[in-house]
Amino acid sequence: MWSGRFRQPLDPSFEKWQRSFGFDRRLLSFELQASAAHARALSHAGVLTPDELNQIERGLEQIAARAESAPEFLDDPEAEDVHHFVEKQLVKIVGDAGFKLHSGRSRNEQIATDLRMFVRAACDEISEALAELMSAFVNRAEQARDSAMPAYTHTQPAEPVLVAHWLLAYVEMLLRDTERLADCRRRANFCPLGSAAVAGSTLPLDRHSMAVELGFAAPTPNSIDATADRDFIIEFVSALSLLMLHLSRWTEEMLLFSSREYGFIRLPEAYSTGSSAMPQKMNGDLLELIRGKAGRVIGDLTALLVITKGIPLAYDKDLQECQEPLFHAVDVVLSLMPLATGWMKAAEFDLPRMREAAQTGCLNAFAAATYLTNKGVPFRIAHELVGKAVCLALQKQCELQELSLQELRKLDAHFDGDFFDFVKLENVLAIHNVPGGTAPARVQEAIASARKRIAQSREEAHAHA
Ligand code: ARG
Repeated sequence: MWSGRFRQPLDPSFEKWQRSFGFDRRLLSFELQASAAHARALSHAGVLTPDELNQIERGLEQIAARAESAPEFLDDPEAEDVHHFVEKQLVKIVGDAGFKLHSGRSRNEQIATDLRMFVRAACDEISEALAELMSAFVNRAEQARDSAMPAYTHTQPAEPVLVAHWLLAYVEMLLRDTERLADCRRRANFCPLGSAAVAGSTLPLDRHSMAVELGFAAPTPNSIDATADRDFIIEFVSALSLLMLHLSRWTEEMLLFSSREYGFIRLPEAYSTGSSAMPQKMNGDLLELIRGKAGRVIGDLTALLVITKGIPLAYDKDLQECQEPLFHAVDVVLSLMPLATGWMKAAEFDLPRMREAAQTGCLNAFAAATYLTNKGVPFRIAHELVGKAVCLALQKQCELQELSLQELRKLDAHFDGDFFDFVKLENVLAIHNVPGGTAPARVQEAIASARKRIAQSREEAHAHA
């Protein structure tokens, strides 16, 4: 590709070591599409005759077909990278016309284009998988109906909430992840073709047509930036890191709740493993592996940030090192999403036990203070009074509603017979009646809203396909 100015051959081990074909071969289909768009622009610019263009287009199609039907075709021990591979194969198929394809272009713009196409496709695939996972959460939320559980702050039981409300919290995180992917896709969707090595092509290529042919919104505005920029990869892997962080928090909670101490969730056997030593064990390995893999995707992001932070404009070979973290992050996420979805469908919730936990430990104390507030007692004082009632209940090992009216009235005369209904679980849930609160009517609305937003995200992903 570039041996003209060299008088000595490359050190063979260096030559081998610097190749990227081992991993960038997965960009082949994008490389072929982008090369075809470039060839058409060359023909419009008069650099290729209609016949040459035709030969090149057929040649590129043949390469695609062979890669599809016989993957060992890609085991080329001489190819430096995917760009070199295509050119080499093309010359083999069409002869000298193949050498003309590289007119007015550079691998610097090619790799930037291929990677943008890769990120775009990965955004769509992951959004689709996210929609599946979110639907599994919403279905479980719907199935849980009016079941209650404790919500925790500081890992301490705080207040009762609907199981559905808790599950929908994860859907909100995942919906934001979906939006982040869509946003990242939008910014990545500009076409570097025509930027050449750094200063722009020396041939009058129609950059707009190439961009449109490849489904990009427009050509990139600056050739130096277009060949040097990997922001779109960093943004994308950062969105994936957040997604993994959310999944990691989810797995952490599932693992806690499946411990015997909580006993809220029974691990699905199909996604769990046993112990080689302890016959009684069932371990949530799927969850633990997701939690561990979150660390690796965050590692990919860190690698990308550190690789790019110190390199001067424009293209430097360091940028080749951005590919593996990107591919790794995508592979990790895509492989685990269907498994997380399967887990979510199969896990069993012990709803009676969750309800029981929601009704013990005075989780209705905040509601009890609200009872007094409704009777005109200033909240600070109400808080103090209910605190005393909690102390008494703890002493007597009972719940607030199991104290007698007499005992309560000793604390404050505002306590009345209606207190006992007010602090019952159903009422405690119902009075959290604000948008975004856990009152059953609000949660019903939230389920409908989540379903709508998931459907919208699906539509958006399909619109790109
Ligand atoms: N394999 C290279 C990469 O991934 C392609 C670009 C090479 N450009 C160059 N000037 N050596 O970065």
